[in-house]
Amino acid sequence: MSIRESIDPSRTAAWQRLAALAPALREKSLRSLFGDDPGRGPAWTLDAAGLMVDFSKQRVTDDAMDALLALASECGVLERRDAMFAGTHINTTEDRSVLHTALRLPPGASLSVDGSDVVAEVNDVLDRMADFSRRVRDGQWTGASGKRIRNVINIGIGGSDLGPAMAYLALRFYSDRAMTFRFVSNVDPTDISEAIRDLDPAETLFIVASKTFGTQETLTNAKAAREWVVNALGESAVEKHFVAVSTNAERVAAFGIDTANMFGFWDWVGGRYSMDSAIGLSTMIAVGPDRFHEMLAGFHAMDQHFLHADPTVNVPLRMGLIAVWNRDFLDIHTNAVLPYAEFLARFPAYLQQLTMESNGKSVRLDGAQVDYNTGAIFWGEPGTNGQHSFYQLLHQGTEIVACDFILFAQALEPVFDMQDMLAANALAQAAVLAFGRTAEEVRAEGVPEELVPHKVMPGNRPSTFILAPRLEPHALGALIALYEHSVFVQGAVWGIDSFDQWGVELGKAMANSILPDLQDADRPLTHDSSTDALIRAYQSMHATG
Ligand code: F6P
Repeated sequence: MSIRESIDPSRTAAWQRLAALAPALREKSLRSLFGDDPGRGPAWTLDAAGLMVDFSKQRVTDDAMDALLALASECGVLERRDAMFAGTHINTTEDRSVLHTALRLPPGASLSVDGSDVVAEVNDVLDRMADFSRRVRDGQWTGASGKRIRNVINIGIGGSDLGPAMAYLALRFYSDRAMTFRFVSNVDPTDISEAIRDLDPAETLFIVASKTFGTQETLTNAKAAREWVVNALGESAVEKHFVAVSTNAERVAAFGIDTANMFGFWDWVGGRYSMDSAIGLSTMIAVGPDRFHEMLAGFHAMDQHFLHADPTVNVPLRMGLIAVWNRDFLDIHTNAVLPYAEFLARFPAYLQQLTMESNGKSVRLDGAQVDYNTGAIFWGEPGTNGQHSFYQLLHQGTEIVACDFILFAQALEPVFDMQDMLAANALAQAAVLAFGRTAEEVRAEGVPEELVPHKVMPGNRPSTFILAPRLEPHALGALIALYEHSVFVQGAVWGIDSFDQWGVELGKAMANSILPDLQDADRPLTHDSSTDALIRAYQSMHATG
């Protein structure tokens, strides 16, 4: 099968086997699966790169798993994996390699792609980032007036924001607490205004992060930041207060940032797969180069596992295949990510781009329309907060939501026995979702008969439980790579291009065509009647503001 071809997974023998297994499994409860096999918990738990991943509470059996592995084989998932790691242009609609795995290859490794020594290039940028980060952190790199840099503001959006913002918070425990880090993404003017309002421009460094350096939101925010710095410190200050992260040196120079202060990456790093490239510069300044390298080692450990572990114990493969099973055979539409770690508060938002921009597609590589379901909706919030909000629907709603629980055994900042409480809550929620509570059990507690139906928990709501010792940079890298590869597996089964994002382009073009109409009330409007009326209403409200 050529890289541009894709098999229709729904026409494979394995898909038919899965379709035949599904009705019985839809009826079968997790209670009975655990009843049939008292050792199910450990039997369905695998380890990879320091993470323990328990799939036992997914509604899947050995037969279904065999058929899912056969599906992966018929769809050429592992051949595609090997092609990705080797630098083949598997992003066919953009004719690009997909090589985020090369960002974390150790210095001694070798990988030549399209005639370039990728490992040398990656390590060259990492060394420059490390040198710059050290100089900012120890005060050698000062602002234009000689003041020490105390504030770092990353300006970027999508993959140029969500990864850095998520990682900064996830690793805040290891960060330089004397420094302030902020992340500006939205073209809503309050975002940049709030980010700078209490800061001294003389102590502030801006990282303008944009793969293309052509993104409207980022360039506009960068322009506002530049004006703020120039007004306070003069034009010559730009050089000491702005650095860029981009693949486009020409545009960086045109914006007025010296390319000597630019950290590059490559078109083979997708935006949503870029937080371990130079896009992670803010992360490296926050936690230092050593911690950043520990994170890269965590990514690499999961890459190696995905590449070499036998399919029967391959964690990202299993995770991706179970996601396909839930989506296409159990008719589950959404996946909640529930980190029991406050520092992972931005992880669900980060995963939304990783999963939904990657697998929110309905056309296969060969251009054919799919007639099966693809990427699920991802969302979530940290526990225990979510328990007091949307978990009611998870437990008793009509929508079945697959859940990913993420828990660490050790507190970073221990207080009383709070970590044990956190863990007890995570374990309790996963168990209640899976096993529920029957009417008989409710009655046995002496609940009045009229309340019994209200207190019954249907259970049978699937979840995966990810447990690791401690939220360290290595664990974070492994966790992110786990999701990256799970997303890859799903896309490879569905035969879609998980690495393009054509769907977001039309909206950008449309916004550019509406902007001049908004700004000139005399222009005749030619959009649909709703858009035209909203433009006129906006204009009249804007004028009175
Ligand atoms: O929203 C679409 C998108 O292209 C994302 O894929 C990307 O992460 C984001 O815009 C930002 O793009 P850039 O880094 O080029 O500014």
